[in-house]
Amino acid sequence: MAVSFLLAPMAELSHRALRELIEIFGACDEYFTEMISASALISGGPFEAWYTDPGPCPQRLVYQLVGSDPEQIAAAVSLLDTKECAGIDLNMGCSAPAIVRTGAGVRWMASPDRAGALIKLLRKRTKRRLSVKLRIGMEDDFEYLVEFCRRLESEGVERITLHPRTAREKFKRRPRWEYVSLLRSALHIPVAGNGDIADAQELVRRAESCDAIMVGRLALRSPWFFAQARHLENPDAGNRPPIPESIDLEELGLRFLELLAQYQPREFHKSRAHRFFSYFCDNFTWATYLKTRLSRETELSAMAALLSAYCQDHPEERTLYLTPSPGRA
Ligand SMILES: Cc1cc2nc3c(=O)[nH]c(=O)nc-3n(C[C@H](O)[C@H](O)[C@H](O)COP(=O)(O)O)c2cc1C
Repeated sequence: MAVSFLLAPMAELSHRALRELIEIFGACDEYFTEMISASALISGGPFEAWYTDPGPCPQRLVYQLVGSDPEQIAAAVSLLDTKECAGIDLNMGCSAPAIVRTGAGVRWMASPDRAGALIKLLRKRTKRRLSVKLRIGMEDDFEYLVEFCRRLESEGVERITLHPRTAREKFKRRPRWEYVSLLRSALHIPVAGNGDIADAQELVRRAESCDAIMVGRLALRSPWFFAQARHLENPDAGNRPPIPESIDLEELGLRFLELLAQYQPREFHKSRAHRFFSYFCDNFTWATYLKTRLSRETELSAMAALLSAYCQDHPEERTLYLTPSPGRA
């Protein structure tokens, strides 16, 4: 069976507008939401409806929760349990100081007993697939990681995603991908690998060592790359639409802004657009210049005008060729 391709949970980025954009090309099997605060969700925060918007494919959506209080997380799980989704994921990997300080994210990995008791409690609240996304841990100790994951497995976790870096490493050092296949052999549940996938070729190669593969930042720069990877994996599969020969980068960037206006509240437009373009602009030669100009704009319409002006000034950059086309060297 083909390895599942997963969109990573990314704060301010993994929302409906991005999912809609990736769906234009297809081939992403599951979409994780950005982390949703359990306490904000159960207290009915003003933006929760946007965080939990299940579109465009609820059956392939995984809600990710972050929190430190077991009762609050359990209440949030009960709430999400009423919604159609592919599963509920717990964030035990975030190493942002503001999250770790509260006892959430990777802090869970410091206490296998506390984490095990949490899963036991959640298992009573939902029959949905319960998964956990984590890092290696506070330190580079593979034996500890295996014991921690076995504990989660024994309490009912059904899939683990490993971003094989320690808490301290954040995005430094290369991810230890060898840990993904080693962890997979040590557990009975599926293991997804995640970290620094650079292109469709690498995705296909890495997919050989895991049950599912999760990608974050590359999907922002290249929302079409899941489709490219599926095609690369099996070029002769006749049951899916062909990948496009080329991408019109201006059209795609403008489409994203339209989707943002359609599916995100006005209060989120500026931050979400800036975040997205800080990755998408890497498709252009003068990426830093364009990012800086965009980051000064607050309105989506002004960002659209800037992108179009750039593509008019550099018409040769507007089209990105994915496959060799007749007449091109
Ligand atoms: C801007 C940003 C926000 C992120 N937010 C989350 C999050 O909400 N939950 C989570 O588990 N991981 C989060 N991550 C980590 C990613 O899910 C992923 O593990 C990491 O980016 C490595 O994958 P990549 O190299 O494919 O981007 C975030 C990463 C980035 C860059």
